[in-house]
Amino acid sequence: MHKHDLLIIGAGLAGLRAAVEGVRQGLNVAVITKVHPVRSHSNAAQGGINAALTDRGDDWKDHALATIKGSDYLADQDAVEVMCSEAGDAIIELENMGVIFSRDDDGKLGTRAFGGQKKARTYFVGAITGSAMLHVLYEQSVKYKLNTYEEWFVTKLIKEEGRVVGAVAFDIKTGQMELISAKAVVLATGGAGRVFEPSTNALICTGDGLSLAMKAGAKVMDTEMIQYHPTTLSGNGILLSEAARGDGAYLINSEGDRFMKKYAPDYMELASRDVVSRAEQTEIDEGRGVDGCVFLDLRHLGKKFIEERLGYLQEVALEFRGIDLSESPIPIKPGMHYIMGGIKTDLNGATSIPGLYAAGECANVSVHGANRLGANSLLDTIVFGRRSAVSSVEYIKTASSVDIDERELSKEKSRIQAILDRPKGMRSSELRNKMGSSMTKGIGVWRDQDSIDLAIQQMKEVRGQLFNVYVENKGKIFNTDLVSYLEMEFMVDVAESICLGASTRKESRGAHFRNDMKKRNDAEWLKHTIVEFDGEEMKSST
Ligand code: FUM
Repeated sequence: MHKHDLLIIGAGLAGLRAAVEGVRQGLNVAVITKVHPVRSHSNAAQGGINAALTDRGDDWKDHALATIKGSDYLADQDAVEVMCSEAGDAIIELENMGVIFSRDDDGKLGTRAFGGQKKARTYFVGAITGSAMLHVLYEQSVKYKLNTYEEWFVTKLIKEEGRVVGAVAFDIKTGQMELISAKAVVLATGGAGRVFEPSTNALICTGDGLSLAMKAGAKVMDTEMIQYHPTTLSGNGILLSEAARGDGAYLINSEGDRFMKKYAPDYMELASRDVVSRAEQTEIDEGRGVDGCVFLDLRHLGKKFIEERLGYLQEVALEFRGIDLSESPIPIKPGMHYIMGGIKTDLNGATSIPGLYAAGECANVSVHGANRLGANSLLDTIVFGRRSAVSSVEYIKTASSVDIDERELSKEKSRIQAILDRPKGMRSSELRNKMGSSMTKGIGVWRDQDSIDLAIQQMKEVRGQLFNVYVENKGKIFNTDLVSYLEMEFMVDVAESICLGASTRKESRGAHFRNDMKKRNDAEWLKHTIVEFDGEEMKSST
């Protein structure tokens, strides 16, 4: 059995920031990740990270106000205060670690505008900000000689005496299954985008942490809050960063009209994402789109500017559509991008289960509420990744050691073997596609009770069909067929929790826009939805 003080599941920005902090605090830390750390989905974050720096005459309170307004008032103000007031230090620390933020003409850290905010306070590295930050945090993890279980897959959290005390995992490279004991565990597994098809998320974003946490008895909160990003490529869902609009790009319909003037004349293209996505969908639904898309227009920005500041977007446009952004508008549509909901935590990342912490997209400390502002997610990972490790130190100091029952390992081995032994049936990819398209239809930009009920019914069917899924590869080495099936099990749990959250919230707020209840209802619904698993079934409440 492997033993550590702190086990962090996931090696994206939240996980690595937590790990670096844990090592600095003198803990024996290990990170376990199903992919190489720099392949984590944080790598795909493009536009930047928000912070109000006082030497720019900015004020974290303005950032906090924009975040709360953007959240359609569902975010918890104490959590937003923590995030926004710690943002300045976080940026400077990242810069000191080596993140090469883009500069302005005076050589100072440059900013760009992002949606839902009147002030430009997004710090960035071209349109590859997440990648730049992730590589620097990975360097730090190498510097600190962090224990890393790389390409390992966690199948279960272990609980003893009501506390989380480790995990069962297997090495994807060899198939070897092991127990890893830890005094505390931080879940930093990222988002759950692949529950929907298409999505801007990488194939690895399968909601593992939400499912692991629910099965360990933790609560998930506001899962109905699914963000549709306004500018994704149709078909494959690839993200075209909000940075384009922040840097001046227009949204136009089939008539060449900048339609945002009808929907948000003050903010135009930089209204918050829920507002812009609904505006686009209205244009498309009312016949002012082309093939289910409207257009992102950068032509007036000029080739040099596009290549210098938005080079990655130009690459994507050329590679996937053969479009030079300086010459033609590119067709885009709203696409599933982010889950604001997640594992309920306090301001220090602690869940309701002793020994279990969560940070980043899998968590919900309630800084994003019903709609996240662009560039607040990277900030969330850094601020709450660090805080989760700091608070776990206090817990670890006082936690008595608990022996893990070795039978946990043999039970998990038998469970996985039974999956491998199933006779022929359907493939997990077939079920993934069915789940993804049903979720996009049911819990889309618009939703109503009928569409939600249909999605609930379809997810029941998908869960029933899980037992008919056949894993063709019986081998031990890099059995991605098995991994894909186990991810599917996680995703079904997450999908159900999303549907239950959506069914519970009887109003429209932020990204949760119900055509059958179009108004925000503060009198009754200025509160969170909760979903939990009682060992037999999932239940929702408020
Ligand atoms: O559009 C973007 O660059 C995405 C940023 C974000 O989701 O924070």
